[in-house]
Amino acid sequence: MTTLIAVGAQWGDEGKGKLVDWLAPQAELIVRFHGGNNAGHTLVVDGEQTVLHVVPAGVLNPGTINLIGPGVVVDPDILLEELDALTARGVLKDPSRVRVSGRAHVILEWHRALDKAREEDRRGKAIGTTGRGIGPAYEDKVTRRGIRIADLLDAAALREAIERLVEQKNFELTEYYKWDPVDVETIYARAVEWGRRLEPYVDHTERILDRALRDGKNVLFEGAQGNFLDIDHGTYPYVTSSNCVAGAVCAGAGVGPTKIDRVLGITKAYTTRVGGGPFPTEETGALGEELRKAGAEFGATTGRPRRCGWLDAVMLREAATVNGYTALAMNKLDVLAGLDEVKIATAYRVDGKLTEEFPVTPAEIERAEPVYESHAGWSGDLTACRAYDELPQAARDYIERVEALVEVPVDVISIGPGRDETITRKPPFGG
Ligand code: GDP
Ligand code: IMO
Ligand code: MG
Repeated sequence: MTTLIAVGAQWGDEGKGKLVDWLAPQAELIVRFHGGNNAGHTLVVDGEQTVLHVVPAGVLNPGTINLIGPGVVVDPDILLEELDALTARGVLKDPSRVRVSGRAHVILEWHRALDKAREEDRRGKAIGTTGRGIGPAYEDKVTRRGIRIADLLDAAALREAIERLVEQKNFELTEYYKWDPVDVETIYARAVEWGRRLEPYVDHTERILDRALRDGKNVLFEGAQGNFLDIDHGTYPYVTSSNCVAGAVCAGAGVGPTKIDRVLGITKAYTTRVGGGPFPTEETGALGEELRKAGAEFGATTGRPRRCGWLDAVMLREAATVNGYTALAMNKLDVLAGLDEVKIATAYRVDGKLTEEFPVTPAEIERAEPVYESHAGWSGDLTACRAYDELPQAARDYIERVEALVEVPVDVISIGPGRDETITRKPPFGG
């Protein structure tokens, strides 16, 4: 039995979906433990693309059971849309392959409205959220007034809760933000319908997880977002509203820390970020444009162009410390092919002072000037490589330099979006 956590080491979109789908045949359970449909995980199987926002990325593998744990915030419209699409494609023949925790909180219309109203109110300091209501939904959870998936199954109690919340939310929306109010009847009718349709999927996910572990099955925990979007460890306040680090698995899925074996940190061969906030190695000129084009760097959830820049070893070192990576996966190495020179940030200069630590405040991170190390580039199409020694020497030197800087082995290298466009140096589940 092995438990493996796969989490983003940067600002999200590192290719977690691709790797989870690739690893899924080796696991019995795939478990989402935080975040919501702010995530967009892209899977490419036999040339066909699937983008998942809530359903775990193991679902395309018929042998897997996919859990949405208590730490996730669920927009039932999006979940049902995904379930319908997967069912229509014949991928999901049996509802028992997707299980949703009754403890997961529900994203409602007022969460999306407040998310957008607050972003507008922040003006120049907008976070650039996905507008999916994630922050406001976690707020209600933490202030102990949220509605959970299990509540959708009790129509009478649900009505009372919605009425009370709508009164509060409409006060804030109309009085403070001068926004349109939301309507109790519409929300209530939709919520009852969600309960009816989701009932076959609602389950005690912690029990399922416990049983799988007792039976000695492999379990894969699928992170969303990334270390630097984590509410505690990220570039606050330009972060999401959940913990994205490996440690969040224990609370968000309901599993003890003694049961975790391995943590795979997932990074791109360069860096991207979507939304606002500081980004030390960002390239705003021609190179950034070249990376965006070569890597097709447009958001899977909002379609926004992703900001691009060089790989940042200061960030990866920080993420390795906080997450306890046992290995790294480096994705999108193919995208860097054709550049004469590739660079890695090894330290920053902040107000003239050299530091190897990631700064705390957004102002300091904004002022951080990366200290770069330059490496020879490589050319050619890497997507056909299937073994490490088939990669150009310069690409291997780059990978090995990252290993030395971060002090974590790069066990997996991805050289294309497809399942088979993956090089394994050491299997993440062991063996
Ligand atoms: P996630 O949110 O971490 O799952 O990542 P996204 O799916 O949002 O973004 C990663 C994008 O890169 C997707 O479009 C993937 O299909 C694509 N991708 C993943 N791995 C590779 C790779 O090694 N090379 C290339 N060229 N594309 C990749
Ligand atoms: P995956 O799982 C990249 C970013 C948003 C914004 C900030 C807060 O696909 O890697 P939120 O809507 O969560 O309140 O937005 O976080 N963000 C992501 N960026 N990938 C994601 O998910 C993201 N989820 C949220 O762009 O900057
Ligand atoms: Mg994504």
